[in-house]
Amino acid sequence: MFSKVYSAGLQGIDGYPVQVEADVGNGLPGFHMVGYLASEVREAEERVRTALKNSGFSMPPRKITVNLSPADIRKDGTAFDLPVAAAVLAAYGMNDPSMVRDCAFIGELGLDGQVKPVRGVLSLVSALRDDGRKRCFLPIANLQEGLAVGKIQIVGIRDLRQMMEILADPGKLREESGEYTEAEDGEGDYLVDFSEMNGQRLIRRATEIAVAGRHNILYLGPPGSGKSMAARRIPTIMPHLSREEQLEISKVYSVCGMLPPGRALLGRRPFRSPHHTISPQAMAGGGRNPKPGEISLASRGVLFLDEFPEFRREALEILRQPLEERKVTVSRVNGSCTFPANVLLAAAMNPCPCGFYPDRDRCFCTRDQVRRYLGRISRPLLERIDICVEIAPSSYEDIRGKNAENESSAAIRERVERAGEIQRKRFAGSGIFFNSEMGNRQVEQYCCLGEEEEALLRVAFQEKHLSARGYQKILKVARTIADLDGARQIARIHLCEAIGYRDLEEKYWGSGIQTKG
Ligand SMILES: Nc1ncnc2c1ncn2[C@@H]1O[C@H](COP(=O)(O)OP(=O)(O)OP(=O)(O)O)[C@@H](O)[C@H]1O
Ligand SMILES: [Mg+2]
Repeated sequence: MFSKVYSAGLQGIDGYPVQVEADVGNGLPGFHMVGYLASEVREAEERVRTALKNSGFSMPPRKITVNLSPADIRKDGTAFDLPVAAAVLAAYGMNDPSMVRDCAFIGELGLDGQVKPVRGVLSLVSALRDDGRKRCFLPIANLQEGLAVGKIQIVGIRDLRQMMEILADPGKLREESGEYTEAEDGEGDYLVDFSEMNGQRLIRRATEIAVAGRHNILYLGPPGSGKSMAARRIPTIMPHLSREEQLEISKVYSVCGMLPPGRALLGRRPFRSPHHTISPQAMAGGGRNPKPGEISLASRGVLFLDEFPEFRREALEILRQPLEERKVTVSRVNGSCTFPANVLLAAAMNPCPCGFYPDRDRCFCTRDQVRRYLGRISRPLLERIDICVEIAPSSYEDIRGKNAENESSAAIRERVERAGEIQRKRFAGSGIFFNSEMGNRQVEQYCCLGEEEEALLRVAFQEKHLSARGYQKILKVARTIADLDGARQIARIHLCEAIGYRDLEEKYWGSGIQTKG
């Protein structure tokens, strides 16, 4: 007899529907699987056969042929065990064909018939739902993930025998179908807050502007001045995740098998802080079956590169294109796939190997040492960072927190959200969401300057030897500052502040390195 059930495979972070056909016929007894299969899929044969036997299904020896289509996509992973078992059982006439029709199956099998969790369930179930499937059986451990997709009936199962019992009885099917319950465990809360950071008004302000317009930011300063501290608090002032954003980032984590147990959707914006020894592949994604890299794991959140100059050059340079395109495409023999890379890049560094330049009382690095250290950051990469702030060590009063009440992340987030709303209205329907994403045309359109401001920018352009890109970045940041201010027009004060965030480049990467003594 012939039977067909549905399942899905993973390509990057997207699922695609797969049909699993089984035929049981006369001929030399055996189990054959075809359909462009990776070795772990072909091994399903042994697992399925043994799991069926140990679950108490006695099947007369026949010639079993299983085909997974479409045959032109290479299938990998262990999620095909369950659909293969279901198709074989149906081909032996052991379950009701009307029940199995339109059903999809996802799951790995243990030799005892247990159904084990698999990666990428969010993507797999989304693909099945979009393909018109009405019902999906999956491992009980992946239940919440399947339910989070919505508009498809999800049945979580522990083992093969339970699956057969449910398939035999429509009443049981209704009972066992789960319902998505939004976890209310404070997952949206962060463990840190800006209120813990004393003083440092410049860092706070620059960070707020960076988040409001999604500008990449570089913190530069001596050790212990609070660079890492500020960066870790960036996600806390970003707007809360929308449902679509949650689904998008959770898919990435699900494919990597990194979702916290029992959770389907991530509630917090990601903060990824890879160590500086990271390889280019781990940064951007890759591998034989391409997996997302750090830049994708940080999507919709923050990619923090601490000790920026210590990173391998290739690991940094590989970020250049994804930072502009907000996605990363990984090509491999098995095809290419695209991962999201919509990050706010935050980088932190000391200005020299000892960390204290330009404080010449403490820094004994030679001019060449400083140059070489700073030179590890290439100009093109620097050009992708809109805001550079130099951090001065905190004063005693600042550290003791005696100067002023610290503003909390929630208060800052409110202003950021208001500026976000202005940008959303401005760019509605254009595919752009933040000021940092503006192209030449939008800069021209939305960053008009008055006569006085124009003159100011001309002087800055000449004095600071700005490039065309540098000029545009000043305008974009000025636009964000004006938005935070609720101003329609960029005023002198906004422009001055924006120019200030470019001072560092000339001071450290220009001709200004001072010699010792
Ligand atoms: N403004 C501040 N308010 C309160 N605590 C602070 C402040 N600045 C620094 N600290 C404290 O100092 C510690 C060191 O700060 P942090 O790790 O951010 O330094 P850093 O600038 O990243 O230094 P490095 O260059 O060595 O990486 C923090 O753990 C924090 O407790
Ligand atoms: Mg640090």
